[in-house]
Amino acid sequence: MTKAMTSRASRRGVLKGGTALGLGAIGLGPLGSSVTAAQAEDALEVFSWWTSPGEAPALQALFDAFLAAHPDVEIINAAVAGGAGVNAIAVLQTRLQGSQPPDSWQTHIGRELIDQYVVPGYCEPITDLYTSEGWADVMPAGLVEQATWESEQYSIPVGVHRGNGFWYNKQVMADNGIEVADTMSVDEFFAAADTLKAAGIPALALAMKDTFPGAQTFENTLLGVVGPETYNALFRGETSWDDPGVREAADAYARMLDYVNEDFSALSWDQAMALVIEGGAGFNSMGDWAYGEVVARNAQDNIGWVSHPGTAGSFVLVVDSFTLPVGAPHPENARNWLTILGSKEAQEAFNPLKGSIAPRTDVNRDIFSPYHQWSMDSFANDALVPSCAHGQASSPAFKQAFYDASTAFVTDKDVDTYIAMLSDAAAMDAEATA
Ligand code: GAL
Repeated sequence: MTKAMTSRASRRGVLKGGTALGLGAIGLGPLGSSVTAAQAEDALEVFSWWTSPGEAPALQALFDAFLAAHPDVEIINAAVAGGAGVNAIAVLQTRLQGSQPPDSWQTHIGRELIDQYVVPGYCEPITDLYTSEGWADVMPAGLVEQATWESEQYSIPVGVHRGNGFWYNKQVMADNGIEVADTMSVDEFFAAADTLKAAGIPALALAMKDTFPGAQTFENTLLGVVGPETYNALFRGETSWDDPGVREAADAYARMLDYVNEDFSALSWDQAMALVIEGGAGFNSMGDWAYGEVVARNAQDNIGWVSHPGTAGSFVLVVDSFTLPVGAPHPENARNWLTILGSKEAQEAFNPLKGSIAPRTDVNRDIFSPYHQWSMDSFANDALVPSCAHGQASSPAFKQAFYDASTAFVTDKDVDTYIAMLSDAAAMDAEATA
């Protein structure tokens, strides 16, 4: 399937028994699918941003798991394209404010779930499902905790992504005499980058069409320079953003930006990953949904990975989960959906395609790829730090400022302005929570 067809089919389709019947023809606007959901007697409207060639089949695996148990329910796929939810989150907010929720939506555990949805009153607790399904016994306490507010659980994690991946094309490296070891330092990256530059190949694939890669590459670089403790302290407001480590990281990031593809502002994240897969760039700093693209393109043999330079020993957490809305049009279907998502079977079907590891620790390790097994080991042994680019680490307001500052920096590389913008945002955040 071409990319356009994939996203068209998945953007707004009714799926029943695995078949997609396009609803696009009747011209639904952003609210249209919820009207349809309300009209359909036995439906389940699922809202996400999973539309890329790797994401869509993984979402379909979840739909298939649901339909196997509930074959008569119509699934309405209300996915809104745009990596990291850059468009979807805004569309969802409008719907929630207008009391038009879907039956379940994708969100990251941590601050995004709690600050953006739970505290404003958009989510029903699902604590009883945690109890009846025994989820707390099979999931790491740290994940359950990030889905918890005032002793109630509000979402079920379905996949644990590692945000600090650094993906590379093995053939491109071999052709240019570059050996990538098990880890890569910042200096090693620059040495490889100079070699690739001399050969006319952009060392780093960047994609700013959906803006989040600018913020994500910085948080990875920051982590590599300051380490997990200072990284956490920064996002908790315990270390100031004019710390010398932040400046060093911003300097390194500015240097890295000298090696990016010229068309970065036109590419989406999956197109940047495709550039690496096709040999048009050397590396891509990206969460392991990038591995979903590798799987979708059958490129496992030629794509290698290390942690983003300097970040070996840390795991940037980007945990996808689904909610139960207040006022879900089909609450029973919604609860059944969440029950399926928390099952071993659904998590074993979904995560090999998505690139994430299963939140459940009782899944069969053998069905996962060598990459997944590597990530499982990293999750078990490394320092776990939340991602700001994916909403887990900070308030939604700080995340937005982090995006805005990073988007400006990618073009102007102005370290002083970058630090000033981040410091101002942190000060406003502290004031808002005081
Ligand atoms: C993240 C999300 C992933 C992946 C990625 C790119 O925020 O957690 O599942 O979809 O965005 O869209």
